[in-house]
Amino acid sequence: MNKYDPNRVIFFDTTLRDGEQSPGATMNLSEKIRIAQSLESLGVDIIEAGFAASSPGDFEAVATVAREVEKVRVCSLARTVISDIDRAAEALKEAKHSRIHVFVATSPLHMEHKLNKTPEQVLKMIETGVSHAAACTDDVEFSCEDASRSDLDFMVEACRIAVACGAKTLNIPDTVGYAQPEEYAARIAYLKERIDPKVIISVHVHNDLGLAVANTLAAFRAGARQAEVTLCGIGERAGNAALEELAMALTVRKNYYQLNHGIKTEQIYPAARILSRIIGQPLARNKPIVGANAFAHESGIHQAGVLKNPETYEIMTPASIGLPSNAIVMGKHSGRNAVKAKLESMGYALEPEQVDAVLSAVKSLADKKKDIFDEDLEALVFEEIYRIPDKYALVHLGVQSSDTGLPPTAVLVLDIDGKRVEHAGFGVGPVDAVFQAIAAVTGHKPGLEQYSVNAITGGTDALGEVTVRLTENGRSAVGRGSHPDVINASARAYLNALNRLAKMEK
Ligand code: KIV
Ligand code: ZN
Repeated sequence: MNKYDPNRVIFFDTTLRDGEQSPGATMNLSEKIRIAQSLESLGVDIIEAGFAASSPGDFEAVATVAREVEKVRVCSLARTVISDIDRAAEALKEAKHSRIHVFVATSPLHMEHKLNKTPEQVLKMIETGVSHAAACTDDVEFSCEDASRSDLDFMVEACRIAVACGAKTLNIPDTVGYAQPEEYAARIAYLKERIDPKVIISVHVHNDLGLAVANTLAAFRAGARQAEVTLCGIGERAGNAALEELAMALTVRKNYYQLNHGIKTEQIYPAARILSRIIGQPLARNKPIVGANAFAHESGIHQAGVLKNPETYEIMTPASIGLPSNAIVMGKHSGRNAVKAKLESMGYALEPEQVDAVLSAVKSLADKKKDIFDEDLEALVFEEIYRIPDKYALVHLGVQSSDTGLPPTAVLVLDIDGKRVEHAGFGVGPVDAVFQAIAAVTGHKPGLEQYSVNAITGGTDALGEVTVRLTENGRSAVGRGSHPDVINASARAYLNALNRLAKMEK
């Protein structure tokens, strides 16, 4: 951040830490890097890339994101424990700009039942932890976990100690999503009056009562200047404050809040789509800002109004969030430069050989499907580029299904660790036959927890996008596949999930 602007709010993104704690949102390292890149393009100020001490995977994620991103500050979470802080510092050592985020609970409930500590002991932990973090980096944030249920004066005392020991940002989380806007704003104002004005007050609000963004905005009005957010609001339980909702509220109602921020709003839609694909969770149609209905007008009166003047029913334009027009983008004759430029406009900066791989996939899709839309192109990027190295790969698939009384049959050829294996199997329906055949040939019999098919664009020639969630030996993985033939897309999704499970096992 350049010149100090008292009206500039800091976007601290925790998609890769709190967001990843959301059920079903586990990401592998390359997916985390992809998310970090889109967060950087979005213009967030800080990326909380993980909790380095919590697992070797989190440590690697923090260290890799710290190396990969250029402009954004990278942060690791840590308890007030010395070894946690050392792990965070170690993971962040190659970051151009880093932050250690130290937390401990300050509510009576957490101190007594979770930590088994007296308030005095907790204050001592803050002193030890924050001082140690400040010796490792010049940017320390301190969080009073469960602050909204903490005794107000005890919370202020904890914050004062943290500042005295070197914290420059104080985070006041509504850990359980319990606070109400006016009440939360009053807590922030109370702290602000009692703390060095140079210290940034941050808020981190969970959405259990659907108030995460409202509480964050109320806290800004009371003087907070940092918000901890996640893309699409993913996070523990009902999630965190959604980055896109907060950024658009501040943008659309700049006249009301009078606050500045660095989010490039036209990158919101590409970033949300990328996240949704990576975690295999479709964006709900009625999701504010990024859902399919956010700019759709159904009633005749609304449609007529929008045709006359979009402002009658639209408080922001689709272009302001980077929503692509559904214009045809590619076809059989599209050239390399056109594909590259289109990918860049969608937020994908690919290496030359990756562009070539997407181009050849575009050409082969164009043989089957006349018009190729943005969404098709995005599906191809994920099929060609972000697919993890496969242990199991589909070579051929033939499926027969009829109503003659014969059971649906799948014949498949797989490549398993470089070896070709063939198998045929039956099932209740064609998808079941394919899954049974894959299970038999790979020797896995995971539980199928979720199976969904989505036609990426309209028309019977649309690319089918299949998402599955498989569970085996207590681990679960999301798999995705896309293909104009939904049975083939189903096989790819199933194999993709098996590949992820195999990788986790390793
Ligand atoms: O919700 C919470 O309190 C947290 C802290 C660790 C900041 O995620
Ligand atoms: Zn949280």
